[in-house]
Amino acid sequence: MDLITNLSDIKAFDERITRACSDIRYPIGSILRIAGQYLANWGIGVTEENKEAIEALSLRSYQDEWKRTTGTTHDAIIRATELAGFERGNTYMNSVVGDVAVDLMFAMAEYDKTRTFRLCDIGAGSGETTKAILDRIEYWKLYELMERFEFTLIEPSRKNLNIAGDKIETHRVTEQVEIKFIPIGCTTHKFLERVGKGQYDLAISSAVFHHMSFPGYLQPIREALAEDGVVVIGDWYTTIWKYPAFVAEVLKRLGIGRYGLNDFIQMFDIREGDASRLEKELTPEQQETNKRMIAYVYNIGNEFVRMSSRMGPEERAEFLEAHEAFDDRIGKLEDAGFVMDLKELKDKHTAFVNMPNNKIRVDPKNDAAMVVAGAKVPGKLRKAA
Ligand SMILES: C[S@@+](CC[C@H](N)C(=O)[O-])C[C@H]1O[C@@H](n2cnc3c(N)ncnc32)[C@H](O)[C@@H]1O
Repeated sequence: MDLITNLSDIKAFDERITRACSDIRYPIGSILRIAGQYLANWGIGVTEENKEAIEALSLRSYQDEWKRTTGTTHDAIIRATELAGFERGNTYMNSVVGDVAVDLMFAMAEYDKTRTFRLCDIGAGSGETTKAILDRIEYWKLYELMERFEFTLIEPSRKNLNIAGDKIETHRVTEQVEIKFIPIGCTTHKFLERVGKGQYDLAISSAVFHHMSFPGYLQPIREALAEDGVVVIGDWYTTIWKYPAFVAEVLKRLGIGRYGLNDFIQMFDIREGDASRLEKELTPEQQETNKRMIAYVYNIGNEFVRMSSRMGPEERAEFLEAHEAFDDRIGKLEDAGFVMDLKELKDKHTAFVNMPNNKIRVDPKNDAAMVVAGAKVPGKLRKAA
C-alpha cells in the first residue's frame, strides 16, 4: 500500500483507527506512539519533512497519558504483570539496574581514587531506580563511594519527583552519609537541550525508553556524558506492535466489535494467516515474549473494567507503545555512538574489565525485560591497571 506522508492525512487516518477501536476495554491511543521504524508497516511514511512533527505528536501523546493516569492505573498494571506470568517486573528490573550501576561506578572509583561521580536518572518517576542504587550502596556499606556521588533526577511529573525526594531523604543510607541530589522537573528532551556537554559519568534509566518512538534522545544523552561515561538501561521489549496483523489478534482479545474489526482489517488489508506468516520472522524467544505481553495487555484491559467503579475513563493508559525488538534498541544505541559490544568494552573500558555480561535478562525465562550497559568509550582508552 502507498505510504501516507501528509500530516493532516496521517491525523485523519489515526482518528479512523481510534474510531474503529473505540469499544475496546484498553483504549488504543495514537498509532504515532509506535516505534518509528515500524510505522511503515502501518501505512505511515516517515520523511525528513514530517519526522519532527510526528515525533512531537508522539511525545505529546505519552505526556498527556502521564498527566491523566494515577496510582490506580499503576496498580492495575502491576496486577496485570503478575497475572500475565511475568514473575519479575519493574521492581526487580530496578534492582538489576542499581546493582550493575554501582558495580560499574565502583570499578571506575577504584581506578581513580580522587574522582567524583555525577549520575543522572532519566525518567526517575517516584525514585525507585535511584533508590535501587542507594539500596546496593547500603547493602555493601559503600559509604565512601557514596560520598563521591551526586544524583540528578529528571522527571516531568512534579508529584513523582516530590515522592522521589522524600524517598531519598529518608533512605537508611542517610544515617551514614549525606546524599547529594538535584531534582529536575522536566522531560529528558527539554533538559538535554540545555545541559552542557560531558556533565555526567553515568546515565541510568528504567522502564522509560519504550515511551520514546524515535531515537533522537540518545545522541544528546551521549553528549551529556563524560568522555568515558556509562549508560545502564532497564526496559521492556516486544514486537506485538510491529504489524497491524499482530494487533488485530490482540484487539479481538480486548473485545473489539465486528464492525470495528472489519474496518481495521480493511484499513491494513490484513488477510487470513498474515499474523502466523509474519510470526515466523521472529525468534522463538520473541514469540514467547509476545505471548506473555499479549496476556499482559489482555489482563490490563480486564483490570480496567474490574476497577471501573474506582477509576475514571481518563485514568486508563493507552495500549499502543513504542516497544521494539531488543536488537533494534541495541542498533539504535550503537548508531548513536555507544559501544555495546562486551568484548570491545572489556578491552577498552576500566569499568567493564570484569563484567561477565552487559545484556542481562531480568526474568531468566524470557527476554521481555532486559538491562543493558554500554559506554561512550573515550578517545584515549583506559584499561584497568
Ligand atoms: C514507568 S515509569 C518508571 C519510573 C522509574 N524509572 C521506575 O522504574 O520506577 C516512567 C517514567 O518516565 C517518565 N517520562 C515519560 N516521558 C518522559 C520524558 N520524555 N522525559 C523524562 N521522563 C519521562 C514518566 O513521567 C514516568 O515517571
